[in-house]
Amino acid sequence: MNRRRLGVVTDGAFNAGLTVRLDPEVSTEELHIGDFVIVEGQENLYFSLIADMQLRTTDAAFTADPPRGLSPFIARALRGTTTYATVQVKPLLMLPRPRGSFIDITQKPQPVRTIPLHFAHLCEASEGDFAAVFGREDKHHFAIGTPLTMDIPICLDLRRLVERSNGVFGATGTGKSFLVRLLLCGVIRSGVAVNLIFDMHDEYAFGKQSEDGQWVKGLTHLFGRSKILVYSLDEQAAARSGRNVDRTLKIGLNQIEAGDVLLLAEELNLRATAAPTIGLLQDSYGDRWLVELLEMTPQDLDEFCRGSGAHPASMAALQRNLKLIARRPYMVPQADFSMVEEMVAALDKGQNIILHFGRYDTPLDHMLVANIITRRVRHLYQEKVEKYEQTQDPRHRPRSLVITIEEAHKFLNPAVSRQTIFGQIARELRKYYVTLIVVDQRPSGIDPEVLSQLGTRITGKLFEERDIDAVLTGVSGRSFLRGALESLDTREQVLIMGHAVPMPIVVRTRKYDEEFYKAMGEGERPSVRESIEELFGE
Ligand SMILES: Nc1ncnc2c1ncn2[C@@H]1O[C@H](COP(=O)(O)OP(=O)(O)O)[C@@H](O)[C@H]1O
Ligand SMILES: [Mg+2]
Repeated sequence: MNRRRLGVVTDGAFNAGLTVRLDPEVSTEELHIGDFVIVEGQENLYFSLIADMQLRTTDAAFTADPPRGLSPFIARALRGTTTYATVQVKPLLMLPRPRGSFIDITQKPQPVRTIPLHFAHLCEASEGDFAAVFGREDKHHFAIGTPLTMDIPICLDLRRLVERSNGVFGATGTGKSFLVRLLLCGVIRSGVAVNLIFDMHDEYAFGKQSEDGQWVKGLTHLFGRSKILVYSLDEQAAARSGRNVDRTLKIGLNQIEAGDVLLLAEELNLRATAAPTIGLLQDSYGDRWLVELLEMTPQDLDEFCRGSGAHPASMAALQRNLKLIARRPYMVPQADFSMVEEMVAALDKGQNIILHFGRYDTPLDHMLVANIITRRVRHLYQEKVEKYEQTQDPRHRPRSLVITIEEAHKFLNPAVSRQTIFGQIARELRKYYVTLIVVDQRPSGIDPEVLSQLGTRITGKLFEERDIDAVLTGVSGRSFLRGALESLDTREQVLIMGHAVPMPIVVRTRKYDEEFYKAMGEGERPSVRESIEELFGE
């Protein structure tokens, strides 16, 4: 196979990577940090990343006193003799070098264990090389984008993706939500897992206008009712045309646990005394503590304080603060979990659930509702797994569930991640067949312990040093990836690393557009009846 040659290896170390002197006719400007390149050793092919570039000269006089007004002709004449460029290359995978001209696709690339000798060739990757490493699109390989310099698909292994919790990071506007939509489409279409999506900013269930002013489709439009159910907190959402809400969800005060309230200390303005005061209430009223507290008259409060030793001012403050919760329009005094059980039954049948917040999209709403629902869902999954372990009957094997949350640092910051159900799910890996997609613009806000559990990380541009550090927590070869991360465009480019890809790679994100809708439609076209319902309401 004839790959285009870029240069030769002149120096290197296993840990530090290889130094390659570029051929004179190759300009540094043709290459990018993070490019996928091949080093052709004698025995092996090394699939590598460009980690750094340097300009050099053999003549110190040129550095001390650079010639002025140099003609392009002379500059070219100097290139390769007096001036030259080197690139720093990090081999990440290797494959025995094929005897014929084609890579044997039955062989899987292996982790690198050695380095090539001097003067091995550095070459541009061909389409075949990309395919050999990143696979081809098929039922379980989803094309998430293309390399920056080529128009061929880079695929994620969806089965591996859903095996672990994952992170999608990037500053605001880099394309996280669009990318998550792509991922979800891939997962839904392949059926490798079912999804519970907390649609906190009203962008997954229904169409939305993009920053370019285009209307983009929501998941309900792409997949229809047989695959997606929408539960909304907002009873008005259902009334808007073109939006099919399956259920309006109510949350009961009785379903709120002390932990949920304490998590919201900031949003609710709670005092430091809130925790012990709630403890006293729980001692007297058990599960009904919140309902009882909210119903207390001033006399009741006094009486309770006298009986329990609670501090009157703390009690009054707590009651006042917690009334904020009771006033949320989707709150009812009493609710059972039948609706969550219904959701899990739908998940069992292979349907996906979107929880739509509608107008109720404050952090208070997100955290309260996502915690209560997820806790229950996770509990039901635990029961399923226990049953499956007992019977070992394949029919009882739970379907893998992926839960998507935006603004993940609210649930997973170091102060709370040990207590929230989301922290628990991230930590227990996939023991109960439940994993997360955490989406966040500020990964440094997330507990490092949770970050280090993430299987696959997909990261757009980040501007803050500490966010970049956070994303690279627990990643090997982080110094090589930092450059790739820093060189990303501010939109629609991501670095993908981890479990679902054989090696880290920078891609241009696939467009979420008509062409994509068509590609998704091939498998799962909503029935004509559903499309009519979508258009005209029922
Ligand atoms: N894959 C994509 N296809 C089409 N447009 C995209 C894509 N990714 C990002 N965009 C554009 O970038 C804008 C910001 O993307 P968005 O996902 O909302 O960013 P974030 O969630 O990171 O704030 C979108 O409104 C859209 O115009
Ligand atoms: Mg977003």
